[in-house]
Amino acid sequence: MYRIRIVDASEDDVADTLADLHQLTFFDAAAMPEFDLGVWWLAYHGEDAVAFAGVVPSTHVRNGGYFSRVGVLQRHWGHGLQRRLMRVVEARGRRIGWDSIVSDTTDNAVSANNFIQAGYRLFEPETPWAWAHTLYWRKWLH
Ligand SMILES: CC(C)(COP(=O)(O)OP(=O)(O)OC[C@H]1O[C@@H](n2cnc3c(N)ncnc32)[C@H](O)[C@@H]1OP(=O)(O)O)[C@@H](O)C(=O)NCCC(=O)NCCS
Repeated sequence: MYRIRIVDASEDDVADTLADLHQLTFFDAAAMPEFDLGVWWLAYHGEDAVAFAGVVPSTHVRNGGYFSRVGVLQRHWGHGLQRRLMRVVEARGRRIGWDSIVSDTTDNAVSANNFIQAGYRLFEPETPWAWAHTLYWRKWLH
């Protein structure tokens, strides 16, 4: 049983939890985000935070969000947490009137399959922001 909660990353203990989860899920594969930017969610199993996700306004598409990170502790993989976190990000995007959510995956078939299953489509940004073989994903919210 998992519960997902929007959290206030300006609180020190929340920022620490997000940083710990980031380290445990990305190791050094991605830079530590600035958690005071954007909106963040934690997924709890009982009292334990086991997954996180965040979204920031996109600097690459007009009136859209960039789904910047999602990470799930390994022993909680395969319970649909990435897809549930995607849904809360999309719901917020719709509520605040964004047109789309964009994201990217690099060498990550599991995550790419989750984007496909959640209704994202590949797209080519005007200015690609990551690696030459990165896949860029977009979902229109209305
Ligand atoms: C990628 C990641 C977020 C997926 O999280 P998750 O909560 O396990 O994903 P979901 O449960 O929503 O989706 C699981 C899908 O991936 C596959 N999968 C996940 N864990 C699996 C496992 N242990 N064994 C086999 N397949 C697995 C399944 O195909 C499953 O799809 P299905 O439900 O249709 O069978 C997680 O593996 C992770 O945190 N990885 C490290 C950080 C990372 O790569 N983040 C994403 C950057 S783009």
